Amino acid sequence: SGNALALTPPMGFNNWARYGCDTDSPNTGDQGPSQQLILEQAQALVDTGLAAKGYDTVTIDDCWTTTARDSEGNLVTDTEKFPQGMAYIGSRLHEMGLRFGIYSDIGTATCGGFPGSWGHFQQDVDLFAAWGVDYIKLDGCNMPSSASDADGYIDAYGDFAAAMRANSSGRDMVFSESSPAYFSIGATDLSDWYDVIDGASRTGQLWREGYDVKMRNGGGSAWDKNSNGAGVMTQYGYNSLLSRYAAPGSWNDPDFLITGDGLTAEESRSQFALWAMMASPLILSTDVASLSTDSLATLGNTDLIAIDQDPLGRQAGVVSRDGTVDVLARPLANGDRAVSLLNRGTTAVPASTTLSAVGFLGGAGCSASVKDLWTGATTTTSTIGATLPPHGTAVFRVTPGAGCTGQQPTGQITGIG
Ligand code: GLA
Repeated sequence: SGNALALTPPMGFNNWARYGCDTDSPNTGDQGPSQQLILEQAQALVDTGLAAKGYDTVTIDDCWTTTARDSEGNLVTDTEKFPQGMAYIGSRLHEMGLRFGIYSDIGTATCGGFPGSWGHFQQDVDLFAAWGVDYIKLDGCNMPSSASDADGYIDAYGDFAAAMRANSSGRDMVFSESSPAYFSIGATDLSDWYDVIDGASRTGQLWREGYDVKMRNGGGSAWDKNSNGAGVMTQYGYNSLLSRYAAPGSWNDPDFLITGDGLTAEESRSQFALWAMMASPLILSTDVASLSTDSLATLGNTDLIAIDQDPLGRQAGVVSRDGTVDVLARPLANGDRAVSLLNRGTTAVPASTTLSAVGFLGGAGCSASVKDLWTGATTTTSTIGATLPPHGTAVFRVTPGAGCTGQQPTGQITGIG
């Protein structure tokens, strides 16, 4: 993307999956964003120690404006929700050592029906920059029909990125694009999806590739719910196809971590491990102020955060997938590899992979130091294995010994699921 923003995947909080919009959308009774909610969650990031571990970007999602622009065409903050306005939010977040993210939409209206940025790119970007915004999430609902094909989205997001670079405050702002999501959902031919991801990777630092991770309504488990309530396994299935697009400043975004909200402790650990393997943004959409001890231990696991934030910026490839167990591997900057074993099933299974399968050659002479990143235990071995609990993910950092030579590329399996 041609600049030095987001050289590692962004981390932080967004209110959407947990709190939605106050218009009973997407779920009846959703409370929506407010000054009180946003600042409470920001304070909780600081108080829990998560901010110090990197969770530093707090983004206000849809439903923060009034229903119309003012006479000069500016977006208007809803002061019933944000009584002291957005510059105040920006300065409070900055005082806490955090960054300020805000939501808009490239079309004529947001997904929630509030004014969109179409026809106002520079004006909106300048307003956000003047408020101290550090990160813009730009959704893709309600695109005018003249621009609603793949090229239209690619061009419009490129124009918005140019407006961001030209902002009148000279601010660096990270660009989170949603364009690819509008070409995966329900699509059978994914060629436009890949084109739009390619476009997003040239103009933004991260992009939503698909569905919303979880609709709270409609029943079903947040682990594997669809159709179209999404679910962790749905997001993972799409995102695991996209490793070639990940690089420093260029991240596939499979949507929020919903740790502890509709997931068991094991499923929360799995989501976190898989997101870390995929070099995904780690953006919490859960009540940070009431995270359990288990959830805090998961999200605060510094070994896994280091995998996610590894400076090489390579996303894991799928080494093997047998219907129950998926093996993923990714190279790390210091020559180690991160390896994960996911159990999709509902009964415990033993699973293992080999050093050669994850890219270390050398035959019988090759053994490695293998650290289990959940327990911290390290063993010297030539196979990497564990008994996986239902919906569980084991994850290891593998340091090759002197007898290991060469590396082979990680396999790339295609096909969603
Ligand atoms: C879309 C996005 C969500 C959220 C809502 C807001 O569904 O995917 O993340 O921003 O719009 O309306």
